[in-house]
Amino acid sequence: MTDDVQPIGIARGLTNYGDRAFALYLRRSFIKSMGYSSAILERPVVGIATSASGFNNCHRAMPELVEAVKRGVLAAGGLPIEFPTISLGEVFLSPTSLMFRNLMSMDVEEMVRAQPMDSVVMIGGCDKTVPAQLMGAASADLPAVQLVTGPMMTGRHEGERLGACTDCRRFWGNFRAGKVQRAEIDVVEGRHATTAGTCAVMGTASTMACIAEVLGMSLPGTAAIPAVHADRLRAAEASGALAVQLIGQPIKPSQVITPKSVENAMRVLLALGGSTNAIIHLTAVAGRLGIPVSLQRLNELSDTTPVLVNLKPTGDNYMEDFYAAGGMSALLRELKPLLHLDTISVTGETLGERLAAEEGAWSDPKIVRPFNDPIEPVGGLVALFGSLAPQGAILKRSAADKTLFETEGRAVVFSSLEDLGNRVDDPLLDIQVGDIMVLQNAGPTSASGMPEAGYLPIPKKLAQAGLKDMVRISDARMSGTAFGTIVLHVTPEAAAGGPLALVQSGDRIRMSVQNRRIDLLVDDAELARRRAALPAAADKPTRGYAKLYQDHVLQADGGCDFDFLLGPAPKE
Ligand code: FES
Repeated sequence: MTDDVQPIGIARGLTNYGDRAFALYLRRSFIKSMGYSSAILERPVVGIATSASGFNNCHRAMPELVEAVKRGVLAAGGLPIEFPTISLGEVFLSPTSLMFRNLMSMDVEEMVRAQPMDSVVMIGGCDKTVPAQLMGAASADLPAVQLVTGPMMTGRHEGERLGACTDCRRFWGNFRAGKVQRAEIDVVEGRHATTAGTCAVMGTASTMACIAEVLGMSLPGTAAIPAVHADRLRAAEASGALAVQLIGQPIKPSQVITPKSVENAMRVLLALGGSTNAIIHLTAVAGRLGIPVSLQRLNELSDTTPVLVNLKPTGDNYMEDFYAAGGMSALLRELKPLLHLDTISVTGETLGERLAAEEGAWSDPKIVRPFNDPIEPVGGLVALFGSLAPQGAILKRSAADKTLFETEGRAVVFSSLEDLGNRVDDPLLDIQVGDIMVLQNAGPTSASGMPEAGYLPIPKKLAQAGLKDMVRISDARMSGTAFGTIVLHVTPEAAAGGPLALVQSGDRIRMSVQNRRIDLLVDDAELARRRAALPAAADKPTRGYAKLYQDHVLQADGGCDFDFLLGPAPKE
């Protein structure tokens, strides 16, 4: 082999001993300890980035998926080599999984780049894992295929279907309101999440699976396949085979993820009534390739994109129903007039070619509504701007109470999650119907790391009186499985000195969804006085990943990525 020929397979990216021939000889010696023959070591290598963990129930089926990917790689003439990355199980991480998304993305990027592979299949599923893998793949820019673990099937409770975790929240709300007793909530706890896979509704994981597909990074038609369905294993096998075909082709993440495919992804997010988290993740993925995602553009697209998918938390159904109804293919056919059709997927096929081939396929209009008979005429998310959120905030209007869209109310402020926990159920809390709950210091650089805490619980005394929704505002995020008139991602956050930090109980706040406004009705002189009296910032972490995170994390409108990871990585 000459120096000017790009090596393939295990000869790629040799360890530096100052003697390339020795480095290859040593590598071959060591890999042979795993029983490989000389012949199979001549094959191109497909890396399989896995994220199984005992702390990640959503990835329980990973071993079976890995076997199916390997089958596809071997049958297509490649050598599959599985490698682990960290895993992010949504409910197992403290203070919040978002804080570790960038760490996982760096793990994926660096291990894809540092280890000898010619292409990679990345298997993820739970909320932050697919964004992390897409971010890492975009930065490494090696041919890559995203495979998702797929959604859970629903469970049953006394004749009712249950799916994590919109129904978890509903039951918990009823328990808090005294409508469900302790004995029943203990039984239901075992009936929300009953199979392998990701949350069964259009939460963040499902939204990101759909976004991965419309971006072009997954095989067409695979986003919604349930985790336990045999089609999921066939998708894995096909992903492995495709990863072999991609070797030597110019189809890399930087060719697939483009301004047009990102805009298609925004359309799909809006038409799904998808998770608010997805706008943060999409911004971060696109940012790795220098593609800006603006909230003003989100609003323009939202005004012309109908909500078409009838899934919880916006609608009534579950991911297994979406798959049976035609899945992403059905949705993309309905959205076709709004999409850029010249984008390509990892198959090399354009979106237009895909949709032409699928023309006339069956779909269920009860789950994927016709373009001209939508669930909502406008998109699921809207960005609000104003004196309370100069760089924007997000409202999932498709999961909110429309009667609260044009509202002015008295602020009831909680200065932190701890303060919220201590006081929200206090019978003496000064709060009434029509008030606006405000949570401060729950943004990206706060001690809580932007948790999914924006779904502030309705104070017990109001819940027990029958109140189901009220306007709640914070710099936190919200689970994609949640619902309510909840304004999130207020930017800049309170901990970074945003106007949210200046709100005091008793202030008036005005929200107008029609005008895309969220304003704090306090005069400038008073705000200046309050700013001067703000307490000194809390001590920042001084070591380790916590310090790296604090020093470099961007605000929500920057996708909460690290500032030093933006833009395309320099080519080797
Ligand atoms: Fe993993 Fe919901 S907890 S997808």
